[in-house]
Amino acid sequence: MTFEQLWRDLDPIGRSASSGGYFRQPFGSAERECHAWFLEQCATRGLEVESDGNGNTIGWWRAASAGGPGVLTGSHLDSVLDGGAYDGPLGVVSSFAAIDHLRDRGFVPARPIGIGAFVEEEGSRFGLACLGSRLMTGATTPEQARELRDRAGVPLLDAMSAAGLEPELGTGHLLENVGVFVELHVEQGRDLVDRGAAVGVASEIWPHGRYRFDFTGEANHAGTTRMEDRHDPMLTYAMTALAANKQARLSGERATFGRIEAVPNGTNAVPSRVTAWLDARCATDDSLAALMAEIERMGHDRAGLDGTVLAVTAESVSGAVHFDDDLARRLATGHAVGDWPIIPTQAGHDAGVLSAAGIPTAMLFVRNPTGVSHSPAEFAETADCLVGVEALATTLERLAGEGAAG
Ligand code: GLV
Ligand code: MN
Ligand code: MN
Repeated sequence: MTFEQLWRDLDPIGRSASSGGYFRQPFGSAERECHAWFLEQCATRGLEVESDGNGNTIGWWRAASAGGPGVLTGSHLDSVLDGGAYDGPLGVVSSFAAIDHLRDRGFVPARPIGIGAFVEEEGSRFGLACLGSRLMTGATTPEQARELRDRAGVPLLDAMSAAGLEPELGTGHLLENVGVFVELHVEQGRDLVDRGAAVGVASEIWPHGRYRFDFTGEANHAGTTRMEDRHDPMLTYAMTALAANKQARLSGERATFGRIEAVPNGTNAVPSRVTAWLDARCATDDSLAALMAEIERMGHDRAGLDGTVLAVTAESVSGAVHFDDDLARRLATGHAVGDWPIIPTQAGHDAGVLSAAGIPTAMLFVRNPTGVSHSPAEFAETADCLVGVEALATTLERLAGEGAAG
């Protein structure tokens, strides 16, 4: 099947008629529909499907003569809230298309080739990014995951059961025979545009943390309470958000308050509490720790002035990921069109989790003309997606062909 046919199948699932963006939250109906599509595609190609009790699935192409450690590709099917079409699905669709290319040209893999679909990569429902790959590698324990609840208070296990799954959280067996992982992904910045390249290879992922800021104050009347008598947590939040933005700009790093809840959330009342979530990313683990220490210090100072209280909780922190240099060079070089650039990224990926777990891992990026991502405007030209499919097919040939190391 062509890339375009596969893309058309998946395209309408979970798309909002008003914004054009996607709502494919894990274990919800749209994401489950995408997962059912994934299983159908595996069945059409005779791939052997294996699932774990975390909601992750791999379809394996095991040619009769194939043996040894497998070559895993794939990505995720969930989206952020009102996300783009490409973040995740591009890697899954390209994987099926790449296998079809390889079969069309008569390639017989010496190693099994698997296509994976990892669950809750974005953390858009349960707050923890890469939940599926974290559980399967042990980076998150079943005990930690059992505590997770979505915004409506639904526990992870209940959401899984309601979707018809039989949850059995933990490392399971899915990665047992994986020798190498390659994830293709739309680029989420403009590096490849600036370099004039349709595809690139990842060198590293910046460290990344998600922090909950609870600002507590005193509820009161919006009209009768003099400005100087207030203990307004919204004000402390606003000043902390400004300080975080300034601090990140000064140091060339990233700090984003993208989610906020106010209690009681009424127009004519000073709120009693504001909870805001900060996403922070820096070039090194030390600079992330320093940025957070500074933002927290400024938040507490401001709370002191406002007569409010601030409590900060790190909900998840992922350290720097340095992908396997030799593997990146091996994939990036020796092409007729010239070498593919090797570039860093500030976005998180399941590939980072598998790499941190000691699996030799690489990523291929496909050019995104505007660099916009996590938005309905996320885009990649079909011509570049086709270059990506070919790049992934070539990569799988190198890794799963006769004489492949590893
Ligand atoms: C995932 O895409 C992230 O970087 O947050
Ligand atoms: Mn992604
Ligand atoms: Mn994403």
